[in-house]
Formats: sequence, C-alpha cells, structure tokens
Amino acid sequence: MTLAADITAPIAMASAPSAEAAPAAATADKAGAFFSCNNIHAYYGESYIVQGVSFEIKEGEILALLGRNGAGKTSTLRTIARMEDPSLKEGEIFLGGKPVHPLKSYEASRAGIQLVPEDRRIIGGLTVEENLVLSQVAPPIGWPLERLYEHFPRLAERRKQEATTLSGGEQQMLAVARALARELKLLLLDEPYEGLAPVIVQEIEKIVAGIKAEGITTVIVEQNAIAALQLADRAVILDMGEVVFAGGADHVLDNAELRANYLAV
Ligand SMILES: Nc1ncnc2c1ncn2[C@@H]1O[C@H](COP(=O)(O)OP(=O)(O)OP(=O)(O)O)[C@@H](O)[C@H]1O
Ligand SMILES: [Mg+2]
Repeated sequence: MTLAADITAPIAMASAPSAEAAPAAATADKAGAFFSCNNIHAYYGESYIVQGVSFEIKEGEILALLGRNGAGKTSTLRTIARMEDPSLKEGEIFLGGKPVHPLKSYEASRAGIQLVPEDRRIIGGLTVEENLVLSQVAPPIGWPLERLYEHFPRLAERRKQEATTLSGGEQQMLAVARALARELKLLLLDEPYEGLAPVIVQEIEKIVAGIKAEGITTVIVEQNAIAALQLADRAVILDMGEVVFAGGADHVLDNAELRANYLAV
C-alpha cells in the first residue's frame, strides 16, 4: 500500500493552475469519488470528439471503459492524462479532490496519472532496466527497481536485454512497470491485451489484479470487453463520444442486449 498511502499528498505542480480553469476544488468529489470527470468536451482541432463525458471511480476500483472502434475511448484517456490532443474545452477532472483539468500532461503525470498507450512507447536502443530508470529521472518516483523486479520476475531476467526485442507480452509488462516506477494513483491502460496470445493475456490480467490489490485505481480500455469486465468493478460504455451506460461491470456481463448494441460481443 506504499503508493495508496500517499493519496493525501498535495499534487506536485511546477506552476499554479490557471485561475479560470479551476473554480474550486470544493466542486469535486460528489459522493466522495476518488476520480471524477464531469461533463468533459474535447476536440482535435475542429473535430468534436469527447462530447460531455462524465464518470466517477472509487479509490482502488477498476473501471472498464468500453465501446466500439472510434467511440472515443483513447481520446477520453488522453484527455484525462491532459495530453495536448484532443484539447479539453469544457468540463472538470478531479483526482483525490484536486483539479486535474488545469494541468499539462507532465503535471498530470507528476500528480500520479500514468497513461500506458496502446503502442506501449518502449524506448528503442535502451535495455529494460534503462527504460525503467529513465522513468525515474524526475521525482516523484514510485516503486524502486527491486520492488518492480519482484513484481515482474520476467523483467528481472531480461533487465539487460534491449527492450524492443522483448515479446509483446513482456513489452506490455515493461510499459506497466514504467507506470509503477513513477508516482501512480490512476493507471490508464489503453488496450493492454492487444496482439497478445490468450495465455499472455492471463498474465497481464494477473498483473492488473495485483495492482488493484495494492490499492491503485485503474481505467482499462479493451476490445476484449468480456475479459476487461471480468476484472472490473464498474463499466462505462461510450458511443460516438458520449456515455451510454455507466454502472456495475456485472450488469454489462449479464446484459446481452447492451453488449450487442454497443460492444459487438
Ligand atoms: N488525432 C486525431 N485527429 C482527428 N480525429 C481523431 C484523432 N484521433 C482520433 N480521432 C477521431 O476521434 C474519434 C474517436 O477516436 P478514438 O481513437 O478515441 O476511439 P477509440 O474508441 O479509442 O477507438 P479504437 O477502439 O479504434 O481504438 C474517431 O472518429 C477518430 O477518427
Ligand atoms: Mg483507441
């Protein structure tokens, strides 16, 4: 619970958030949610993609963010991680009662929001260990190397190997380990099972469950909706940039019509 114990720490920011974007942290945390996004709207240039998305997560929960191709899942994760694209034009995002919407991506990362993108962004020409160490060049850092290697024995075995020569599953492990190497309060996983054999998917599932056991809060986006729902506490389904369902993961697993309408499973 090392990381989870730290949730009361102030969000580290290089500069103060702009005043107009952060009316008051007091508007956050309705019903005591650990994470919430309230009516967020985001654009790629003129393209209006994230169209008023709202949802909440309790601390330590896994939320499955689902929807068909192009529904806006990746765009929503990128908005939460405060990437430049798509750009957030309206709405609020809070983590641990602190406003995230005024932050830049590096500030959101310092505040503990770590996005593991679909392409994993493993750095070529560097070993596994160098990839991990690079995540820790700037504070606040998360798990030390020894703890990461205990949790990911395969990465320990391959610590001197060039990281881009790892298998797909190992690269996914490294991408998750890099998130843990940083301050981690909200893990955003974009299609972590993509391109992996079922047996490897099971390994990644165990890792995600292990992260939950540490008290860390996770949003998982997956095409493999059933697998994600089995792991998740809550589910949000997006369609054309809007939330069409928010509720228990069990509810989606039990509702074939909902799945047929919005998930193609
Ligand atoms: N850089 C971009 N510029 C303009 N439009 C974009 C950009 N990236 C995505 N879009 C559009 O935004 C919409 C949502 O895309 P997004 O990648 O968020 O969907 P997704 O739910 O993650 O889909 P997938 O399941 O295919 O990954 C799509 O219509 C897509 O074409
Ligand atoms: Mg996507």
